[in-house]
Amino acid sequence: MFSKILFTLLPILATAFPGLHQSAPILNRQTDPTLFPEYPGLPNHSLYTKFDPIAQRISTTGVHAWAPPGPNDIRGPCPGLNAAANHGYISRSGVIGRNDVFNGLKAAFNFDAGPAAVFYALAVLFDGDPLTGRFSIGFHSKDTNGIPILGSLLGNETGICAYGHNHIEADASMTRGDWLAPSQNSNCASYPEFGQQLLDLALLRNGPSGNITPRVLAEHALNRRQHSISTNPNYFSAPFAGLFINFGAHMLAYTILANHLAEHPRGYLSPESFMSLWSYSRDADGNLTYTYGHERIPDIYYKAAADDQWTVQDFLVSSAQRCLAWPESCQVGGNTGTVNSFAGVTLGDISGGLVNAVEDFQDPVKLGCFLAQAVKAETPGFLSNVFSGALLSSALGLVTSLLNPALALLGDCPNLPAGRAVFEPNSVFPGARPQKSGKRNPF
Ligand SMILES: *[C@@H]1O[C@H](CO)[C@@H](O)[C@H](O)[C@H]1NC(C)=O
Ligand SMILES: *[C@@H]1O[C@H](CO)[C@@H](O)[C@H](O)[C@H]1NC(C)=O
Ligand SMILES: *[C@@H]1O[C@H](CO)[C@@H](O)[C@H](O)[C@H]1NC(C)=O
Repeated sequence: MFSKILFTLLPILATAFPGLHQSAPILNRQTDPTLFPEYPGLPNHSLYTKFDPIAQRISTTGVHAWAPPGPNDIRGPCPGLNAAANHGYISRSGVIGRNDVFNGLKAAFNFDAGPAAVFYALAVLFDGDPLTGRFSIGFHSKDTNGIPILGSLLGNETGICAYGHNHIEADASMTRGDWLAPSQNSNCASYPEFGQQLLDLALLRNGPSGNITPRVLAEHALNRRQHSISTNPNYFSAPFAGLFINFGAHMLAYTILANHLAEHPRGYLSPESFMSLWSYSRDADGNLTYTYGHERIPDIYYKAAADDQWTVQDFLVSSAQRCLAWPESCQVGGNTGTVNSFAGVTLGDISGGLVNAVEDFQDPVKLGCFLAQAVKAETPGFLSNVFSGALLSSALGLVTSLLNPALALLGDCPNLPAGRAVFEPNSVFPGARPQKSGKRNPF
């Protein structure tokens, strides 16, 4: 119904917003945006009506005044982390630890303790320094090599972008590039082309307000995936980072970064707020431009309420809702070395029969178990790619104390069969072959 109305409106919108016709998608079963709920996640978020102007206000003054990163400070692919660092909610250096993730992100955005625990465990183990419990929110930092003097012998942490690719950060990001694409291939930096596509889509779907809603973000994720399939011979969507974190980040853009106002208690992400939080501005010709690391929380801004936080359950339910709307968008796999060659992995094979078809991901419980299984299967490979010797042993020790409790948050999965790693040197997917070095975009 809604799609029919949109169809009749398209010519009018195209006249009102010149340039929009270029990105007007064809509405069919594969891309119909109305198949995804306007307010995803657990149903009670869609009913939330409360507003507390004091508890929800995000301070941007005093110790939380905005300042751009200094020359040795690191910023990376996540606008929320970059903005939190620029406002001193987490270390302004961009090298952060447990207190930053659990307390700093809660103070800034009411980031829930559940996703914080999952993120922290993965970031420290796969992208950071298991000994000090710290990691870089962007590219490699010499400050997080486990034992500085022996660092090069025992391990060389990656940070969450650049060589940290596919541990947490994945291809077809909201605005960042694909690490192994032929062009626009920084996975730490934003590309205005992708930001502008999102702004255009929000205007097309939601009218002149341009409000960037979860449904717009879900549709943008579809478009970004299609763009990667058709332009990046090495595109790969991994079981955890690709299937889950990539879409989860699209949802977080709204659920933690939207302005939660009295008149919009469920959130409102205007184009102006988006531009500030994603470090975009307009040049003399009105083109969108990106400044690395200048993400900024607007001055009068309200976070989600403490009793309306986006939990691990919400991540799983919203992902399952996406897989129900567009099953093919949940395929795990990638291009096989040429553009438009996307092939899916055999799910029953990598999951020991837990999951046999992409439709199984429409069940959030099964999805959670598959994700936990996938992380466990990749853990030995991810760790031995980065660490050796004593550092590898201590990293493996953290699997029991840090990683397993975090994965348990994804669900109670009795008798979980062992999964099989998809990252391997001879993978048919070039994007799934582990790489520690090579000529790459450093940022
Ligand atoms: C560690 O990796 C980074 C890239 O992530 C590289 O620039 C640096 O030279 C490496 N250091 C050592 C000691 O191998
Ligand atoms: C704005 O974009 C247009 C089209 O890509 C380009 O021709 C123009 O030079 C850009 N303006 C500036 C100031 O870079
Ligand atoms: C929404 O429901 C979940 C699960 O039933 C519950 O844990 C959460 O507190 C509820 N949130 C609100 C805002 O009522």
